[in-house]
Amino acid sequence: MDGSTITKTVNVILLGPPGAGKGTQARMLEEKFGLVQLSTGDLLRAAVASGSEAGKAAKAVMESGGLVSDEIVLAILKDRLGDDDVKSGVILDGFPRTTAQAEALDELLKETGQTIDAAISLEVDDEAMVGRISGRFTCGACGEGYHDDFKPTAVAGVCEKCGGTDMKRRADDNAETVRERLKAYHAQTAPLITYYEQQGSLSKVDAMASIDDVKASLDGLVAGITG
Ligand code: AP5
Repeated sequence: MDGSTITKTVNVILLGPPGAGKGTQARMLEEKFGLVQLSTGDLLRAAVASGSEAGKAAKAVMESGGLVSDEIVLAILKDRLGDDDVKSGVILDGFPRTTAQAEALDELLKETGQTIDAAISLEVDDEAMVGRISGRFTCGACGEGYHDDFKPTAVAGVCEKCGGTDMKRRADDNAETVRERLKAYHAQTAPLITYYEQQGSLSKVDAMASIDDVKASLDGLVAGITG
């Protein structure tokens, strides 16, 4: 953290198609503002790795590029929202993804007198997302994300955050599955842009800009709601 730590509960949603930069930016917002990144993709991948019933049900859906059922995702999310570390706010990365999830989130937050402070749509061109995703890799030890061209490691294969050397590529990061994920985004998630616009919490950021420029825009928006 760099001294921008917030003192009130703040809930931010990052919306955007696969490859838009939700995970990359959520991690940086977490560091800067002391908010907690909550990625339903990460929670589901952990459920798959654990071999739980929810994980078994989610695995094939994730590999096909479709959306996991609202029931499974909401159960996993509610469980995580009960943890102490998320009490002062979260950056939701990859959730909500359907109108039913957005409505359930509103209800959940209402129970504790909270709201969504900002829903930020990362605006990108679909065609560029296949390239972004197929070049992505992640440190298996700390989860830091990289890209072959846009965010390479200084020393090949060595994580700049933790020094780990176990770099991972996701099973659903192939061109065919990415196209299915993009279709799912436009059919089921893009309508949430209007949902949050109507609630008055929507902001749009040009996420075709460089990682640093997108970060600067997001820092400004989050500083505006935390200050
Ligand atoms: P999830 O893990 O959420 O994946 P996703 O939404 O498809 O998003 P990605 O993680 O692929 O992209 P990102 O926007 O985080 O991009 P990143 O920052 O890594 O979900 C996976 C699956 O789980 C779903 O398909 C679904 O099956 C299931 N699921 C998850 N949540 C669900 C829910 N709520 N309901 C139902 N099912 C759910 O960036 C990508 C790459 O680009 C990186 O290498 C990065 O370095 C690079 N990059 C980032 N920004 C830039 C930039 N500005 N310029 C150049 N390169 C950049």
